[in-house]
Amino acid sequence: MKNIVVIGAGTMGNGIAHTFAQNGFKVELVDVSEEALQKGLKTIAANLDRIVAKGNLTEDQKAETLGNISSFTSLENCSKNTDLIVEAATENLDLKLKIFKQMDDFAPENCILATNTSSISITKIAAATSRPEKVIGMHFMNPVPVMKLVEIIKGYSTSKETFDQTFAMSKTLGKVPVEVNDYPGFVANRILMPMINEAIETLYNGVAGVEEIDTVMKLGMAHPMGPLQLADFIGLDVCLAIMNVMYDGFKNPKYAPNPLLVNMVMAGKKGVKSGEGFYDYSESRKAEKVAKMFAK
Ligand code: CAA
Repeated sequence: MKNIVVIGAGTMGNGIAHTFAQNGFKVELVDVSEEALQKGLKTIAANLDRIVAKGNLTEDQKAETLGNISSFTSLENCSKNTDLIVEAATENLDLKLKIFKQMDDFAPENCILATNTSSISITKIAAATSRPEKVIGMHFMNPVPVMKLVEIIKGYSTSKETFDQTFAMSKTLGKVPVEVNDYPGFVANRILMPMINEAIETLYNGVAGVEEIDTVMKLGMAHPMGPLQLADFIGLDVCLAIMNVMYDGFKNPKYAPNPLLVNMVMAGKKGVKSGEGFYDYSESRKAEKVAKMFAK
């Protein structure tokens, strides 16, 4: 595999494009608007700068990585010699089914169609195509250039050949692939999301405050981020969508999203991306923090 298409230039999509490009793949990045593409490319350049600043990449390698990425506002305009398409669009079933139909119409016969979905059934997505044996889950973790894990999820009809190729290729990205079967939440989110939901329940019950809960998990369990900060980082709407997929899929009340999570999403408090979640990420808050630093 050498030629990759990545659909979606958002947080996960630009991280996936970055990772492939830095490992020598030719990447065609697709999003609906030029603005979204430019924002994604800017993020990739900024993240490459951090790696250069740490001395882990040269300026030449950075230029080569950026040179490996071209961008398009329509899949139809991409080259027809793609080996793999990775879909990283918004976590919405209808949207994903629509995109997979387009991918199936566009892609050459041998092309593998992968989804970065964090919880939607691979089997259901595959059923929207004429090649379910070539459909697979490649679940990267955020931030993609840093996190080593990729869950490789086999749908009901995914062939052994598709699985083996995807698994082997993930290793060439410097990632550690893990084989997983197609059940709601897969492995990562089946374990992570109930922990986040329980942290929200703990807050909702008034057991402790936001910072206290996060501090317990950071200092007590050596987690790099507390669960509430991590929820903000992932997006509270994404956390809610994943809990709902597991709640619907298993029909088990233990996966019911906490009412505080539901309320926050309804109020538009989605975490880092909306400027507020369990913490405040607004510009005025940043300015306030800087002012405090200078006051000391
Ligand atoms: N691109 C490239 N490099 C990046 C980066 C990015 N976007 N973000 C951070 N880095 C690098 C930094 O340059 C730094 O590199 P060195 O180790 O070489 O110094 C390293 O990552 C650590 O970064 P920082 O020092 O800035 O910050 P940190 O130590 O707090 O680490 C973090 C940041 C890696 C994000 C860490 O906080 C962490 O591991 N958080 C938890 C992440 C996590 O749980 N992700 C999974 C989310 S769930 C998911 O994605 C799936 C889903 O379906 C919901």
